[in-house]
Amino acid sequence: AGTYPFTGRHQAGIVTPAQDRLYLASFDVTTDDREDLVALLQRWTTIAARLTQGLSAGPYGAASGPYDAPPDDTGEAADLPAAGLTVTFGFGRSLFVAADGTDRFGLADRLPDALVELPHFPADALDPARSDGDLVVQACADDPQVAVHAIRNLSRAAFGAATIRWTQLGYGRTSSTSTAQTTPRNLFGFKDGTANLKAEEPDELERHVWVGEDAAAHDSRDSSWLVGGTYLVARRIRMQIETWDRTSLREQEALVGRTKGEGAPLSGGEELTEPDFEVTGREGTPLVALNSHVRLAHPTHNDGVRMLRRGYNFTDGNDSLGRLDAGLFFIAFVRDPRTHYVPMQTTLSRDDGLMEYLQHTGSGLFAVPPGVPDGSLVTGSDGT
Ligand code: HEM
Repeated sequence: AGTYPFTGRHQAGIVTPAQDRLYLASFDVTTDDREDLVALLQRWTTIAARLTQGLSAGPYGAASGPYDAPPDDTGEAADLPAAGLTVTFGFGRSLFVAADGTDRFGLADRLPDALVELPHFPADALDPARSDGDLVVQACADDPQVAVHAIRNLSRAAFGAATIRWTQLGYGRTSSTSTAQTTPRNLFGFKDGTANLKAEEPDELERHVWVGEDAAAHDSRDSSWLVGGTYLVARRIRMQIETWDRTSLREQEALVGRTKGEGAPLSGGEELTEPDFEVTGREGTPLVALNSHVRLAHPTHNDGVRMLRRGYNFTDGNDSLGRLDAGLFFIAFVRDPRTHYVPMQTTLSRDDGLMEYLQHTGSGLFAVPPGVPDGSLVTGSDGT
């Protein structure tokens, strides 16, 4: 845990070792005034910079401001440490061009080509009330109260300019983003994050995660503002866990392509052994099945593409049939969703054996600008 710097070349909360908790909120901008939008983003920057350093949202804090005004911090994190809080901001396509084509904020000429409208993937069952949005704020921390406090105070600061469209609470990381972390498990009970892109692979991050000068140079509009940034793909994937739990261990492992205990590829070896897709069993069938998740998601079947996965488990109560509304809130950071997400999701949605147990119920794609440069913000403990 501890404290992560808010400023830097890239925003925190991407290669930062995945914290254990997530609270993510998508916002609709309600003002039509560009100045109001700019002011909101400035307020958010100041507050996020403070909160990530363990400070209150405003200089007075929850209990020492003017007696006849609401406190400038809501208070529930007053005695808690920063708990590794990171706050990451992103912009949806609708911020640049509204669904009806209007350019509310004069931003249409800054829309990056890669900030596409995601296609409808086979078997998508998306709920519009859990999808899209003009702005996204991802708060991650090792204490859920700290993450919720961050979103609550940012949402409060958005009053009159933006309102929450949807939120998602996540409680157990389903990936590792650093080799120093152990691999956690998703709600299918499998290790998740084994073959993820990690902070210790800077060259791979440049190739697969960060938007480069070259991308901006080839864009049809001016997207140079996004150099050093990335794209956040969010998918709320419900898991039919009751059905899964009645499935044999053999079938579960075959669908994933790895063992449930160790997380080793079915072609042999240990957790970190690369799968060998050529190895066949006695009947000549591949040990890592043709419809297994790991085979279909592997770079060798996706033009060498990798992504930085940073998702969380979720459980949002139950449905009327008594089944848990639970699953994986998939988050991935990629340099270009057209090459690094859409093709892979198309393949997975069509061919992945796991899909029998999955239903995508929410979706969002956001451009994540680079970080606020070091030294450009003052957030001292003196309350500034
Ligand atoms: C790997 C589970 C959705 C992309 C894995 C692994 C598991 C897993 C158990 C193996 C361990 C690892 O390397 O992390 C799941 C579950 C999902 C899901 C339960 C849905 C609820 C997705 C989606 C994508 C994706 C939507 C991308 C569109 C990948 C990739 C790998 C992977 C790229 C690494 C493959 C490799 O290089 O070996 N997933 N996954 N997963 N998954 Fe998923």
